Amino acid sequence: MVAILGYSPQQITEAVQEMYTTVAERPSSPFHFPVGKQTLALLGYDARDTEPLPENVAASFAGVGNPFRAKALQPGDTALDIGAGAGNDTLIAGRKVGPDGKVIALDLTAAMTRKIRHNTAGRCPNVDVVQASAEQLPVATGSIDCITSNGALNLVPDKRRAIREMFRVLRPGGRLQLADVVINRPVNVDCDSDPRLWVECVVGATVEESLIAMLEDTGFEDIRVLNRLDYFAHSPSQQTREIARSFGAHSIELTARRADRTPGRLRQWLRPLHPRRWLADLHRRGLLGVATLLLALVSCYGALAAAGLLAALGVGLALDPGVWAGTIALFATFAAGFIAAGFRYHRSIGPTVFAMTGVALVLYALFVDYSVMTELTGFVVMIGAAARDLYLRRYEEARKLGLKGRGHT
Ligand SMILES: C[S@@+](CC[C@H](N)C(=O)[O-])C[C@H]1O[C@@H](n2cnc3c(N)ncnc32)[C@H](O)[C@@H]1O
Repeated sequence: MVAILGYSPQQITEAVQEMYTTVAERPSSPFHFPVGKQTLALLGYDARDTEPLPENVAASFAGVGNPFRAKALQPGDTALDIGAGAGNDTLIAGRKVGPDGKVIALDLTAAMTRKIRHNTAGRCPNVDVVQASAEQLPVATGSIDCITSNGALNLVPDKRRAIREMFRVLRPGGRLQLADVVINRPVNVDCDSDPRLWVECVVGATVEESLIAMLEDTGFEDIRVLNRLDYFAHSPSQQTREIARSFGAHSIELTARRADRTPGRLRQWLRPLHPRRWLADLHRRGLLGVATLLLALVSCYGALAAAGLLAALGVGLALDPGVWAGTIALFATFAAGFIAAGFRYHRSIGPTVFAMTGVALVLYALFVDYSVMTELTGFVVMIGAAARDLYLRRYEEARKLGLKGRGHT
């Protein structure tokens, strides 16, 4: 799931450009993410690749992983470095593709493209520099053998579009080597007017499974995650380290191959509708309690309403009371369990107590002594528990992001 959370794409672009202008022009400024030559070593770059890098280029390195672990570049390749930054990966790629190959270094931030041009002009005839967005690549369809990208995709507002663009410019069978930040739990709170959280690489990141699903949906195959790194453990900011920990933010290095054709329209439509994806997304967003409670309510009152409506139309619908009660009880019990699981995130016992009380009333009404009022009261108490659990989960998220107390819950 791509979370834009109240930022307009324009706000994101401006914040990204501001931040990465500083990385290009004043790399010794304090940043909340690792920057500079020592980061190349931390991320496992081969010293033979990094030794020839000019000092001022290495000083602005802001990658989040080592895409070259994929060994996807071949001599003679035409490569595209998306979000090239100061050009460290571009220069490494330039040596790997050799004099018969070519590297296009593309970045959104003018200060970054200026820096690459300054460092490659007259020295690297096989490097072209372009200032553009990953969402709209000014590159001919099918003209690229290999895309390399390090730390840029998490900063792009429309990731699906950027991935579709990668697919378009790669030739069939072309390869992708990507290092990027991903998260385990999506950010749900509204972070409006605080793009700082986006440019620090956590809030804009995609859930790892969703990123891989997006690549598959677009038509990439043979997708392999080669490495996962606790990148933010190297952040000098304790707050960033804590935010990263609470959302499970980490870097991955992956490789993929562009399929010969785009997936058929039907497959493209059906893939996102797969129940496993829906369930996983509801789970990550803490919405399984709400979803199962809705199912319990629909099984109870929805089935009753449907039976009444059909009877009015002269169609008899015989509901088996045992199966009916069992279905309601099952969904209500699951709902109580999922609501109680919220304790792990917010450490408040209230929603659990209310959810258990609510489900006990529903079960009592269903299996011991039926009364409409008892059943209804049970459901109302459960709805209150689900709403409180959701509120507390979002409040806790906002607190971790440093937004608490500013009306962002
Ligand atoms: C984390 S830095 C990494 C830079 C470089 N790959 C490196 O390893 O040093 C991300 C880079 O992506 C660029 N970027 C962010 N959003 C972009 C977009 N939509 N299109 C192209 N580049 C983008 C930024 O300007 C920045 O230079």
